[in-house]
Parts: sequence; structure tokens; C-alpha cells
Amino acid sequence: MAILQTIDLKRYFGETRAVDNVNLSIEQGEFVSLVGPNGAGKTSLINVISALLPAESGRIIFRGEDITRTSTTERVRAGIARSFQLVNVFDNLTTFDNVALAIFSRQGKTANLGSLAHLDEDVNREADGILDQFGLGAKRDGNARDLAQGERKLLDVALAYALKPKLLFLDEPTSGVSTRDKGQIMDTIASVVRGEGITAVIVEHDMDVVFTYSDRIVVMAQGAILAQGTPDEIRRNEQVAMVLLGSSGPDAFTRKD
Ligand SMILES: Nc1ncnc2c1ncn2[C@@H]1O[C@H](COP(=O)(O)OP(=O)(O)O)[C@@H](O)[C@H]1O
Ligand SMILES: [Mg+2]
Repeated sequence: MAILQTIDLKRYFGETRAVDNVNLSIEQGEFVSLVGPNGAGKTSLINVISALLPAESGRIIFRGEDITRTSTTERVRAGIARSFQLVNVFDNLTTFDNVALAIFSRQGKTANLGSLAHLDEDVNREADGILDQFGLGAKRDGNARDLAQGERKLLDVALAYALKPKLLFLDEPTSGVSTRDKGQIMDTIASVVRGEGITAVIVEHDMDVVFTYSDRIVVMAQGAILAQGTPDEIRRNEQVAMVLLGSSGPDAFTRKD
């Protein structure tokens, strides 16, 4: 059964068709990659689904309910969370406090970090558990600004995860990290997400990563869905190769950037 469905979802910026009548269906438990060239509309689509941008027209159905007109807070409460392409971490807080703050916001508590984080045993335990799941336990008490880039990206994912989503959008969780670190970040994300049965939609440019981790791939171009299918189907799709890499043929996907 589809956990999420968009029906003719639309959002333009002036003449720019950022999201152009998109009909997207995501199945419960899937790990989906959303790919496409820069400017294809991937972030805009996620923004509309998570209510950071209002839809111009069309509908969003989440777990059978029309959520098109609901607020970001209501969607988070319903179970939709997202990480950001540019990391949304509080630099001056410790790694632990960043996670504790996300838990507080999920619980609808006003965060008074200095006191709350160190008093509430349940939050303490949960935050430490999340840090361990993301391999950040050793960085618990350091300021977030001192994390390595790959650790920052993981913390960003951990903050979205701390909202206990049913559907998690990750916008370029491996951007700006080395190829070697990408594998580690993706292994961590995949193991947490699959372990908890969370449905995940991830924006990723590295097609090796996309082919390795995805159940299904959705390709966007110019605001619309160009193609979708299993990694094998997308690998064999020459139109997709052309759009993604500006070249055709079977070698297109083995090139490195
Ligand atoms: N806030 C905005 N104002 C005007 N144009 C925007 C805005 N956000 C995105 N766009 C435009 O919408 C298109 C899709 O952008 P985006 O969703 O960021 O693509 P992607 O994430 O696939 O790179 C691009 O042409 C981009 O320039
Ligand atoms: Mg983007």
C-alpha cells in the first residue's frame, strides 16, 4: 500500500516549472532514490511534501489522508520528516543537545536546554541511543561545529530521525563528503532506516550509491518524473543516462564525477 501519493502536484516559480504536475507514489517500507540534474525540482518537491512550500495545486495523500493544506508541524506529527541539503545543525550546541532538542520539539516541549536535557532521563536515554545508532556516541559532548563533514551529515539525518518519522526525506545526505565516507554514511542510514521499517526517499547524485542502496529509483527532469523503476531498469534506460550525464550508452553510469 502507498504510504504517500501526490496527485498532479504543482509548484512553479514564475516561469520555472519546479514541480510540474507530479504523480508520485511511495510504497510503505521502500528505500527510494530521487535523482535528476541540478534544478530538476527534487528539493522543491520535498519542500512541497513537507509543507515548507505551499502547493499551487494538486493533492498530497499520506497514509490515506489528504494533508495538502496542513502545516509543517502537523506533517511532522503525522510522521513526515526531512533532513536538509544544507545541514540544519545548531553549531553552538553539543552533538547530544542537538539530538535532545529534536526530541523535545517532537514532544512539543519548549526547549530550555541548559536545564531540561540533563534532567529528563527518558530524553537522555533516547538521545544517547540515537547517537549510538548513528555512530556519534564518542562525539556526544563536543560542539557540533567541531564535527567532521561526514559526521555533520549523519547528525543532520539523526535529527530528522529523532522526530520518529514514518516517512523520511533525506536531501543529499552524502553531498560534500569523500567517496570513502559516502559508503559509511549510506551504510549507517540504510541500516537504521531498514532496521526500523522507515520508508525513505533520498536525493543522491552518485549513481553508484543510488544503484547500491535503492529499492526503486525515481528520475526527475524539469519538474516532472521522467522515469522510475528498479536499479536494473534505470541502469538500462538510455534516456535517463542522457539526462543525468549528458551522454548515452552503457558506460554512462560508470563514470565518476
Ligand atoms: N525559492 C525559489 N525561487 C525561485 N526559483 C526557485 C526557488 N527554489 C527553486 N527554484 C527553481 O526551481 C527549480 C528547481 O529547483 P530545485 O527544486 O532546487 O532543484 P534540485 O533540488 O533538483 O536541484 C530550479 O530552476 C530552481 O532555480
Ligand atoms: Mg536540491
